[in-house]
Amino acid sequence: MTMKLVALLSAAAILGISTTTTATAFITPKPSVAVTSTTTALDATIAVFGASGLTAQECIYQALKDGDKVVGLTRNPSKLVIPKGSGGVDADKPLVDSNLTVIAGDVTNPADVAKVFENDIDGVIVALGGKTSDVGDTMLTVGTNNIMSAMKQKGVKRIAVVTSIGAGNSKDQAPFAFKILMMTVMKKIFTDKNNQEKAVQESGLEYCIVRPGGLTVEKPTGVINVIDGEAGSIPRADVAQFCLEAVKDVNFPYVGQTPCISSVGGTSWVKDRSKAARGEQ
Ligand SMILES: NC(=O)c1ccc[n+]([C@@H]2O[C@H](COP(=O)([O-])OP(=O)(O)OC[C@H]3O[C@@H](n4cnc5c(N)ncnc54)[C@H](OP(=O)(O)O)[C@@H]3O)[C@@H](O)[C@H]2O)c1
Ligand SMILES: *[C@@H]1O[C@H](CO)[C@@H](O)[C@H](O)[C@H]1NC(C)=O
Repeated sequence: MTMKLVALLSAAAILGISTTTTATAFITPKPSVAVTSTTTALDATIAVFGASGLTAQECIYQALKDGDKVVGLTRNPSKLVIPKGSGGVDADKPLVDSNLTVIAGDVTNPADVAKVFENDIDGVIVALGGKTSDVGDTMLTVGTNNIMSAMKQKGVKRIAVVTSIGAGNSKDQAPFAFKILMMTVMKKIFTDKNNQEKAVQESGLEYCIVRPGGLTVEKPTGVINVIDGEAGSIPRADVAQFCLEAVKDVNFPYVGQTPCISSVGGTSWVKDRSKAARGEQ
């Protein structure tokens, strides 16, 4: 495997952006300014679960741009396209790359998950989701447990799992309107998310549970605030950047933690265009 030095956090500035919340801002350097660093990372092979999803597509696209190899699992490989947020004029074209292997399969089927781990995987990103009516009541928990079992068998340690603001002990970090949804129409999803988080926290793996605020398909801002109070919105492109750092940076500061992230301080909840991005109306 090719090794290279990657400056992930060398230029990270710590800013106290404070509205009604306390926040720490990461300002991530562009790859071109990566020169010296106290941090090393591999030109890694990263497994992405939920590969056709809007956040997963960002993870895959950005990893490939960064020289990494990616193995993705989705039930619908044909839905995998270049993402709107960081894809620019190429957005919506099929995402095809010699460093990308896409496996058609279901994460709730251990045999399908095992196919991913036939490759030499360095880190894992889980960006699963969907409506309960489509994915079932326990897909997140069952699927993530399958992934973590395979990781343990293969000795893969690092995992980033995208859950949500409001999950686990972040209930009070969800804006009021979102809390109402969590207790009503999203109740089953949040039961599954809470069980998924618990399994990850008890796994013994080097995990980062990433709890984003409202997701958008905007261009990456490059600013990712870890929020102690109520979180606002964040482009999926920025969530992806955070997840990639979580699996690639050996000194990632949030290993074993559950950061809530937002690219805006405070509580604004931006209506996103993800339905349009999926071609739904
Ligand atoms: N929307 C928001 O504002 C918001 C806010 C905070 C957190 N979140 C959470 O953030 C996460 C990512 O959201 P997103 O909108 O980027 O995701 P998304 O576009 O809904 O993608 C989720 C992906 O999971 C895959 N999936 C579902 N069941 C599967 C199965 N059995 N096997 C394999 N893959 C499966 C789906 O792919 P296939 O159907 O092709 O298999 C889908 O592409 C979700 O957990 C979401 O709840 C969302
Ligand atoms: C695939 O990744 C290798 C490094 O692992 C890189 O040298 C090569 O350019 C990449 N291929 C493409 C098509 O980007």
